Amino acid sequence: MNNAPIEQIFPALTWRIRQLAMYPEKEITDMELAGDFDAMHFGLYHQYELTGVVSLFIDGTTAQFRKMAVLPNDQSKGFGLQLLQYLVDYCREQGIKNLWCNARVSAIGFYKKIGFETVGEPYERNQLAYIKMELTF
Ligand SMILES: CC(C)(COP(=O)(O)OP(=O)(O)OC[C@H]1O[C@@H](n2cnc3c(N)ncnc32)[C@H](O)[C@@H]1OP(=O)(O)O)[C@@H](O)C(=O)NCCC(=O)NCCS
Repeated sequence: MNNAPIEQIFPALTWRIRQLAMYPEKEITDMELAGDFDAMHFGLYHQYELTGVVSLFIDGTTAQFRKMAVLPNDQSKGFGLQLLQYLVDYCREQGIKNLWCNARVSAIGFYKKIGFETVGEPYERNQLAYIKMELTF
């Protein structure tokens, strides 16, 4: 599949995709994260529409990514992996040594595709199971 365009986007543009892909039962006004306006956000476009997003919080040589999300109708088409690969390449280029996330347990297989490994034990938050995953460069 051809690469979809990916670029850095304005923070609030992530909220609609987060809501539709991750929290359909919540309001878009609930989608803002503390720190969103100090973080970096990347968006993937498909047919000129914002289709996938991920947010990056850098702290020295460590970075956490949060709210990786692809629109429901466009999942399983390879867009998530393209966006994650872009994020990993960006972090490598920036000299990040450790990239991590609190992954939904349901998405472990996705992150493993690109080399992320689980750290520690799963835990529950708001009725969802999560586990820390990381990639060291
Ligand atoms: C998880 C998510 C970002 C993946 O994006 P996507 O565009 O659907 O994934 P891709 O099509 O790029 O999948 C790439 C590969 O990972 C696999 N994969 C995708 N989601 C997976 C999952 N949840 N578990 C295991 N494997 C998965 C695919 O089968 C595919 O493998 P293949 O190349 O061998 O066929 C997307 O499905 C999504 O937004 N889900 C809802 C929100 C969510 O769970 N976000 C993650 C929170 S931690």
